[in-house]
Amino acid sequence: MELLRHRGSFSRTGLRQAQRRGVPVRSLGQPVPQASQPPHSRPHPHPRPLPLHPEISKIIFSAEEIDARVAELGRLVGTDYSDRELLVLGVLKGAFAFTSDLVRHIYPYPPSLEVDFFKASSYGSGTVSSGRVQLDSGFKLDSVRGKHVLLVEDIIDTGNTLSALVAVMKGAGAASVRVCALLDKKARRRVPMEAEYTGFECPDEFIVGYGIDYAEKYRNLPYIGAVKDEFIKK
Ligand code: IMP
Ligand code: MG
Repeated sequence: MELLRHRGSFSRTGLRQAQRRGVPVRSLGQPVPQASQPPHSRPHPHPRPLPLHPEISKIIFSAEEIDARVAELGRLVGTDYSDRELLVLGVLKGAFAFTSDLVRHIYPYPPSLEVDFFKASSYGSGTVSSGRVQLDSGFKLDSVRGKHVLLVEDIIDTGNTLSALVAVMKGAGAASVRVCALLDKKARRRVPMEAEYTGFECPDEFIVGYGIDYAEKYRNLPYIGAVKDEFIKK
């Protein structure tokens, strides 16, 4: 529900407009209204399913399927790390959405759970792997020393990125390294790479959505789908 706050200097017009739209208005200091339902049973704020993006040809994994699977993965991770301090490392940018949803489902709660992100890129703006992996220089590799690391990635494709990242984390002195990948394109593997946690097996197609891009677009889609041919640069 939309809630407007004002500091006492809210313009009369703005206030009237908000009231006309039925938006509850509260001053700072007034208690925050309690949700009528517990947070986990609140209906999703958007109509579902969302209309298909005009440049998407088909949905491969719906928002509902993703939500349900991410919740299951959170339970699996939580159960495995219930007695270990966990450092969740999301691989940017593709895994931003997945990581943020996953950590909110990790239960039972580990004794401590930290979240960090770093940027790793192996793709340019096209759809073919360059086979190179770069870690951003801003990430302090020292921070993984002695930690139980869970690398969270969007897709395992050839396996180049994750096998390199696992080696980097082990080399940096992590106490353990596991991988949680939302999608696994098993058919395209070029180096051995098996994730401990996988969301879905993915068909050998170029996909976008739920954090995953084509030329930096479509990361905002709540589902995973394929881009229409005419929008892919040949
Ligand atoms: P790998 O090193 O070949 O395993 O590449 C993994 C990375 O390639 C993923 O993190 C993605 O960023 C990217 N990737 C692989 N397949 C796709 C796709 O279908 N759409 C968008 N990015 C992809
Ligand atoms: Mg990636």
